[in-house]
Formats: sequence, C-alpha cells, structure tokens
Amino acid sequence: MGAIVLTGYMGAGKSSVAAALGHRLKISVLDTDACIAEREGVSISAIFKERGEAYFRDAETKLLKELIAGGFDGIISTGGGMPLRDENKKLLKELGHVYYLKASPAAVARRLKNDDTRPLLAGAADMSEKEKRIAGMLGQREAHYAACASTVIDTDPLSVEKIADMILADEKASS
Ligand code: S3P
Repeated sequence: MGAIVLTGYMGAGKSSVAAALGHRLKISVLDTDACIAEREGVSISAIFKERGEAYFRDAETKLLKELIAGGFDGIISTGGGMPLRDENKKLLKELGHVYYLKASPAAVARRLKNDDTRPLLAGAADMSEKEKRIAGMLGQREAHYAACASTVIDTDPLSVEKIADMILADEKASS
C-alpha cells in the first residue's frame, strides 16, 4: 500500500491530521521536521539560522531517500517546503499516496498568528503583513504542491477529523 503522505503549506493541519490518522489506523506517524530536528539536535529555526536553508533542504531529501530505502509505510507529515524540489516530488510519490492539504492565506495566518517556530514567516510586523507574505509564497508554491499530489483537499471549512475521514475513504477506495 505504501505510506500516506501529507503535504501542504505551514499551518495547513498536516501534523494534526497525521496524528488523527495514526490514532485511527494504529500505524506509525513520522513528522519530517521533528525527525530532522531530533537528528540535528536543534530546532528547525536554529537549523535555518545556523546552517542555512539549503542544508535543511538537503536533510529533507536525504530523509525521504532513507524512508524509501527502509520501506516506510506509515503516515508522513512533511515540512511545507518539501515538494519544492523536483527530486523530492518524485521521492514523495514513490513513498505512497500524496495528499495536498490546501489552505487559504487567511486561514494559515489565523492559525499561525502567535507562532514563532516558522523561520520563513519570522519578522512579519502584523497580521496583514503575515497574510501578504503567506499569499505570495503560496502563489509561488501552489504548482509544486499540485504537481506531486494525487488528491487535493480544501481544508478551510473542514475539521481535522473530517479531513481524516476523507483520507481514509480515499485510501479505502484506492485499495
Ligand atoms: C517550511 C515549513 C516548515 C518547516 C520549515 C520550512 C516551509 O514545516 O519545514 O520551517 O518551507 O514551508 P511545517 O509545514 O510543518 O510548518
């Protein structure tokens, strides 16, 4: 069957949906950010600051290759920039069924209002600047997310449990 791979922008709900799916299916959940931070022994923000974004992106690609080599078939919650590299798009598809959890800039800005763990959104002066920055990045990234997803879920009006229901129904239909 392969893994269930969740992609999408920061704050789209990947980690929460992954946890709900893991709970229901009783299979393991891997969060690529958490895995990389644990390996490096520092936070994602510290990796960006001290080692740079390219270092982090290399660590993401390396991790995907390892998951494929190890035959990982649980649930994977990916960092929001994972599908940007073409190589990663291929690797993600190789891992399993890729879901793009789509969220609007307004929903993301609301959810990440008090968040200070995302280096790429750090330093926005207020909510409107944060939302503008999110909208700009999402505009550039949309095609990347769409290119590697086999299913797109518009998450704005949905609860975490409802999104998990939809993924489970999709998995059942395609098995
Ligand atoms: C990033 C998203 C983050 C994390 C890093 C970069 C991005 O993951 O990988 O801060 O480029 O969108 P989440 O989507 O889990 O916040």
